[in-house]
Amino acid sequence: MTEHASAATRNDLTFRGREGLQTTGAQAGNRFFVESGPATDELIRLEQIRKVYDSGENAVEALRGVDMAISRGEFVSIIGPSGSGKSTLMHILGCLDGPSSGSYWLDGQDVAALPSSALARIRNQKIGFVFQTFNLLPRATVLKNVELPMLYAGIGRDERRERALAALELVGLSPRAKHRPNELSGGQRQRVAVARALVNKPTLILADEPTGNLDTKTGSEIISIFEDLALHGETIILVTHDPVIADRTHRRIRIVDGLIVQGHEAEG
Ligand SMILES: Nc1ncnc2c1ncn2[C@@H]1O[C@H](COP(=O)(O)OP(=O)(O)OP(=O)(O)O)[C@@H](O)[C@H]1O
Ligand SMILES: [Mg+2]
Repeated sequence: MTEHASAATRNDLTFRGREGLQTTGAQAGNRFFVESGPATDELIRLEQIRKVYDSGENAVEALRGVDMAISRGEFVSIIGPSGSGKSTLMHILGCLDGPSSGSYWLDGQDVAALPSSALARIRNQKIGFVFQTFNLLPRATVLKNVELPMLYAGIGRDERRERALAALELVGLSPRAKHRPNELSGGQRQRVAVARALVNKPTLILADEPTGNLDTKTGSEIISIFEDLALHGETIILVTHDPVIADRTHRRIRIVDGLIVQGHEAEG
């Protein structure tokens, strides 16, 4: 273990080593990454969300009235055919794009009609993203990539370093902190992306086909990290085409042709 990594582990209880995530039932309710306690159980509520991509005559109605509620601590998958609106829904959930109409409450706040500057702040503070294509900066080290969201959040240098190292330790990548993304395997790159998604202690983790570019075994390892996070009370929404992965989440929401056809509410 490097000097930095051990310092990070000592000083920041937010993150635990990968081993430390092997949890007991008693720990399972803790939310390591959520700073304030929940005001209510409901984290997300969508009502009649519509999204029209307007290309003049070729307007596409990608979402056609989506209703959805997600509680804090849920680990949910979104499944459905190609072109059904999964990524569109994730973009709206992640405040990357606004709906054409409908309501979206996130963490008690009505975010559907906020201006883009406010949405950017919410994204940075509350949401951790993991994408199919990793989206790492190729010229920056692993450590710098993981520090980046904290730079935008205005967190000081020492704390940035400490939290980034702790997050890398959590995903088992501390020894690669000084490497560049192109020196890593696909699975390792996605671990970096997961670490980057965690450093601002997000209220919500969104992953759009995080295993889409990985082989089955490596993908399964990434899902194991999400499972560990879910055990610790993180709220995670994951898009996948893989039924085996969907079965590892607590609830499956199926979307077909812009509408949810199954999994509106938590089952039992
Ligand atoms: N920027 C855009 N402009 C116009 N149409 C778009 C845009 N993005 C998506 N669409 C259309 O909206 C519909 C839903 O697309 P979306 O990307 O949400 O599907 P998806 O379920 O994520 O598919 P996949 O499984 O292939 O990733 C599709 O018909 C798509 O062509
Ligand atoms: Mg998609």
